[in-house]
Formats: sequence, C-alpha cells, structure tokens
Amino acid sequence: LIEAVGAREILDSRGNPTIEVEVLLDDGIVQRAAVPSGASTGAFEAYELRDGDKSRYGGKGVLKAVDAVIDELGPAIEGIDASDQRVIDEILIETDGTDNKSRVGANAILGVSLAVAKAAADSADLPLFRYLGGPNAHILPVPLFNVINGGSHADNGIDCQEFFLAPIGAETFSEALRWGTEVYHVLKGELKAAGFATGLGDEGGFAPDLPSNREGLDFLMRSIEKAGFTPGADIALGMDVAATEFYDDGTYTFEGKPWTADALTDYYVDLVASYPIVTIEDPLDEDSWDAWKALTDKLGSKVQIVGDDLFVTNPERLRKGIDLGVANSLLVKVNQIGTLSETLDAVDVAHRAGYTAMLSHRSGETEDTTIADLVVATGSGQIKSGAPARSERVAKYNQLLRIEEELGDAAEFIGRRAFPRFKG
Ligand code: PGA
Ligand code: ZN
Repeated sequence: LIEAVGAREILDSRGNPTIEVEVLLDDGIVQRAAVPSGASTGAFEAYELRDGDKSRYGGKGVLKAVDAVIDELGPAIEGIDASDQRVIDEILIETDGTDNKSRVGANAILGVSLAVAKAAADSADLPLFRYLGGPNAHILPVPLFNVINGGSHADNGIDCQEFFLAPIGAETFSEALRWGTEVYHVLKGELKAAGFATGLGDEGGFAPDLPSNREGLDFLMRSIEKAGFTPGADIALGMDVAATEFYDDGTYTFEGKPWTADALTDYYVDLVASYPIVTIEDPLDEDSWDAWKALTDKLGSKVQIVGDDLFVTNPERLRKGIDLGVANSLLVKVNQIGTLSETLDAVDVAHRAGYTAMLSHRSGETEDTTIADLVVATGSGQIKSGAPARSERVAKYNQLLRIEEELGDAAEFIGRRAFPRFKG
C-alpha cells in the first residue's frame, strides 16, 4: 500500500528545473521517477506546470508542481495498492480536474504515476519491464541514434531537427549499440575533416552548420561506409523534421525558401528514393490533417511516417489519425499525455490499428530510464533516446543492455522487422 509520496525540484539535462517524485510503500520500498521536458513541444500536449516566478530559474521553477504532489496528489492515493495503476492514474486525473492536466500540471501527475509503477514492480520483486509487460516481454528495440541535431535543438542553420542512424541489420541490441557508436565517432572525424564544428546539440548529436538537409544525410551515408557498414542493409537512416517549428500560416520556411505542403511532400518523395530512409517523423505541421493525409497516401507504403506533435501520445488524436488514414506510426512520450495508463492505451490503440510505435525521450532529459523498460514491456521494437553519448541519453541504452543481459537467451532483437513494410 502507498504510505507516502514526496517530491523535489531537480535539474534536467539542459539545466532547467524538473520534478522528481518518491513513493514509499508500507513494505518499506521506496522508488523515484523524474520527468523530462521538451523544447519543440506540440500545442496539444498535456500541460507542463512551471512557476512563472522570474526571480527563480527565469520563471522555470516547478515548486508549484512539487507542492501539488505533496499537498494533493499524494494524499489522494495514500492507502491504495500500488499495483492498482489504472485506479491510481484515474484518481490523479480527477484530482487535477482539467482536460489537459493544467491545474496541478502533467509533470506533477506523471512523476507520481511513474514512481508508483516502479514501486509496485520493486514490491513484486520484478524488473519494471516484466512487471509492466508480463512474462512474454522479450523484444529488444532498434535504437534510433540522433547523431546530427538541428532545429530547436541546436543553434545551427539545419531546419530538420534530428537525423537518425537505425542499425537494423545487427544481431543483438548490444551489437546495434556498438555499430551506432562506431559510426558516431567516424561522423565526428568526417565533420572535423570537412571543417565543420563538432559541438553537440541538446540530444548529444553533432550540431554542424551544414548548408542543407541533404548534406546531413550524405555525411551519415559516408560515415556508415567508412565505419565498415552497408547503408540500408546494416544501418538505415531516419529523420525527425519537426516541421511545425518552421511552419506559419500555410507556409513552411525551409532551407531559406517558402514551401507549400505539396512541395515539401515531393521533396520527401525524392529523399526516400535517394537514401535508405526507414522513418520520417513530423514531416508536416501538427494540425494540417489534410496535408498529412495526402503525404501518407504518397509515401505511407514506402516509409514509416511518425506522428509526434500530431498525435502527442493522445489516444483521441491517434484514433482520429487512424480513422483518416494519417501516418502509420505513433511517437510515444510519457509526458505528452501525463500518466502511464494513458501511455499504454496509446500504444495499444496504435498496435491494434497496425501502426508501429516508437518510444521516445525528450530533448530535456534526466537519469530516469523508465522508457527503456517501457519499450520492452510494450514490445514496440523502436526507441529514440538521442546520440550514443551524454549520460542522460546513454542511461536508457545502458538500461537496455541490462535488460538484454537479464533476458539472456530469451532476448530477441527485432532488427529490420521493426519496420515491417519498409525498405532499408
Ligand atoms: P522535444 O523533441 O523533446 O524537444 O519535443 C523531441 C522530438 O521532437 O521528437
Ligand atoms: Zn519529434
């Protein structure tokens, strides 16, 4: 039974405050969870409560959310069995009382929701992935390494926010991690040799001032080959365009020019024909459903099209997308929706409709590794947690190494089957 719930303000990887929650059970178990924070956030995400008091952390403090946990959310769930996750999440949602969790904050709610799950798992003496996923949870995901950072995650001129390496041809997760890391180091050398800066962006990828987005893909292709791998067969490519960030009133300002949705869609068709791309995330604006539909009709059979800002891990928005035939994959971010139960619901809705699901970190992260366990628990088979560098990114990949070891012979790396319908 839940005996007490505490919270504190800690720092995330960008040096901004975030909330950490601790749950104490009556059997003496204590577990904690920390909440991540995005930069290119979707307009339809659950509400992240910040203090707005400019005298602390430029207004970004989270003491109000901390107080909400201590004064309201904790007392509301004390005495309940920690394994009653859905009941607890319902109580948290009702205690807040708003549609978008804006009164006490989705950050406060999520911290409690995740800490409860971890405490329940520990109390049952199970690893989190098995507690949440059951005895058959055994699929290790393809890691999508974001090795070139642009958009709102870096101060360079690249419009596209993320360029991924997807080691789909590896035999195991640990081999995929090694391959991606080896290419990451070769990429650094290639950038340096070409006279580009090798400083890092928010997600641990390099942030060079490349003249075009294609140039980013070319650097990845060269680096994959130079590291001794075959682009496509061994290591495929992916992108998160995060197009909402450069969209305004019907126009995309991309590579210094104005583009229509149609023109941008044709550009993606060309890219997919020229490079071994298996996944494209947020190619268009977050509320342009018709343009998304047209893009899905053109490209949906060739490449995974992931809705991040479009779906915001919200089962309602995802159902709308499924009904309309928009995208074919869901990006899953726990803090976009704010409880574990709703996150699991979103994954479930996606899988039942034949959509894939990719578990995701945020650009502002902590040492919390819950998403690594979640991707194995749900069998989703895809995770993006940034570059294979910087501890807040690597923490998730390292946790997957531990899970792989724990599963032993039962571990199965999904590899290219994570992208069932697509080349690469
Ligand atoms: P964010 O970026 O965490 O800044 O929103 C990640 C993404 O867009 O996928
Ligand atoms: Zn995204």
